[in-house]
This record gives sequence, C-alpha cells and structure tokens, in this order.
Amino acid sequence: MNQELTTEEQAALKNIAAKLSTFERQRGNLIPVLQMIQEEIAYLPPETLKMVAEHLGIFECEVYGVATFYNQFRFRPPGKHPIKVCLGTACHVRAGDIILENFERKLEISEGETTPDREFSIERVACVGCCAMAPVAIIGETVHGQMAPSKVEGLLMRIEIEKEMEEREKQKNESGR
Ligand code: FES
Repeated sequence: MNQELTTEEQAALKNIAAKLSTFERQRGNLIPVLQMIQEEIAYLPPETLKMVAEHLGIFECEVYGVATFYNQFRFRPPGKHPIKVCLGTACHVRAGDIILENFERKLEISEGETTPDREFSIERVACVGCCAMAPVAIIGETVHGQMAPSKVEGLLMRIEIEKEMEEREKQKNESGR
C-alpha cells in the first residue's frame, strides 16, 4: 500500500529533483542516487524511483530491482517511533517472534509497515549485538532488554501517554500566549 506524501515530502521531492540533476546520467550512479534520496526523505517513495529511471535512462523495474536487493533501502516511511524487534538466535529462542507478533497485533500492521498516522513502524532485525539482554526490542533509540510479549502493551501505552502530555503542554503554552 502506498502512503500519500506529506507536505514536507512533497517539498523534499523538489530538492531531490535538483540534486538528481547534478548526477551524471549513467547507470553506475544508481546506488549513490538512491542513497541521496533516502538521506533526503528517509525512504524511497515510488515517485522517486520513476524520477531516477527517467534521469538515468533505465527502466523503473531495474531501479526497483536494485533497490530491493540491498536492505539499506526502505520503501515505506519510517514511523516517528520506529520499532525494531531482534530475531537473532539469542532473541528468537527467548520468544522474539512472539514479541514481534504482539507489536504487529497491537498496532494492526505487519513487520515492514508503518501505521497510517505514521507514528509507528515495525521492522525485524538480526542480532543487534546485545545478546546478554535478549530478547531485545529497540524503540526509537532506546534499547529494551529482557523484553517479554507482556511488556509490549505497556511500552506502547507509555509512548501514547508521553505524546498526550506533550500535546497538553503545547496547548497550555499556546493558550498562555
Ligand atoms: S540475537 Fe538479539 S541481540 Fe543478539
């Protein structure tokens, strides 16, 4: 499912078009161009793949083929709170897959997807290097070790509460002006 571009992303497309024109029209520039786009907009929306194909004079399916080959590229916008669930061996044997399923169930999206409000995205990752804390999930930049399926709801709720408090604070500040 394609997600509509936000106003900021539409503006970013203009930047991308300008930067794209600085790359020579040769196929060998495909990966650097894709990296530039992802740096600008955090993922590769379909619109950009088309722009790249046109600029480099290659088929769109070729751009797509290369982009999907490398797992550094994303095709969906990351959520404001990206969730990474480790499914490396140490985490997997400690119910990492059930933790992943629980996040998917609570957020009603599958791994690799982003919620329609773009608040959360879920990704499975291989060993993140802290097996002693297994099972591990990373939300934003915070590592949650000794995770358990039963902790999923609490973590999500905490984020919701923080968001609500931020909004209230913002409203308070605005009404105090
Ligand atoms: S397997 Fe998950 S941190 Fe190593």
